[in-house]
Amino acid sequence: MDLSGEAPAFEVHVEPLATRWRAFEQPLFAGGADSNLTLEIAANWKLLIENTSEAYHLPTIHPGLNSYSRLEDHYAIAETGLFSGQGTNVYSPTLDGIGRGFRDFDGLSARWENAAEYISLYPNVQFGVHRDHAFVLLMEPLAPGLTRERVALYFAGTEMTGPAYGDMRAALLELWRGIFLEDLAVVEGMQRGRHAPAFDGGRFSPVMEAPTHNFHRWIADRLEAR
Ligand SMILES: [Fe+2]
Repeated sequence: MDLSGEAPAFEVHVEPLATRWRAFEQPLFAGGADSNLTLEIAANWKLLIENTSEAYHLPTIHPGLNSYSRLEDHYAIAETGLFSGQGTNVYSPTLDGIGRGFRDFDGLSARWENAAEYISLYPNVQFGVHRDHAFVLLMEPLAPGLTRERVALYFAGTEMTGPAYGDMRAALLELWRGIFLEDLAVVEGMQRGRHAPAFDGGRFSPVMEAPTHNFHRWIADRLEAR
């Protein structure tokens, strides 16, 4: 929603990210009820964007995920003022233990065989893309310290969203639910920490936090422009 009436057209706003992910500009099929998830988090929505902006919380917050997608396999994405996030070079889906997988999206280049990217399109939407599924997270601010996070998974083709793949979709949703719940706990801790007397605003790591800094600058620019 454009509250000011002065925002650029959506196509203009999304163009830098659309260009980056042109390979995924093809039909994505919603998984439906068994592929959707809603969480309520006692934290400001911006802390959820911060959480997804960096990868250094993986070893401590996501030990399971980190066992196959380590910090050093990730890279930062902070190329424009409009979005930021992180990517991994070791995406390798193994959901059922017998080699069955979802169909891949059509025509992807070789780099997507093992790459996956997680990007926040400012202000409050996040996307994850993998060769065999994508997700959208909408951060809905309910109050300054309360956010509803709505998650929806998308797949390549109607067969992937049909009954034959119901168990696989359920397994994938549980995998993501576990990761998002791990994030939820730490983000609620970040919210409490912002009220601690010792909190002084913190320092950014140039190596680890370029995407987070990108987001802060975007917010600060808009606050200054008011
Ligand atoms: Fe996380």
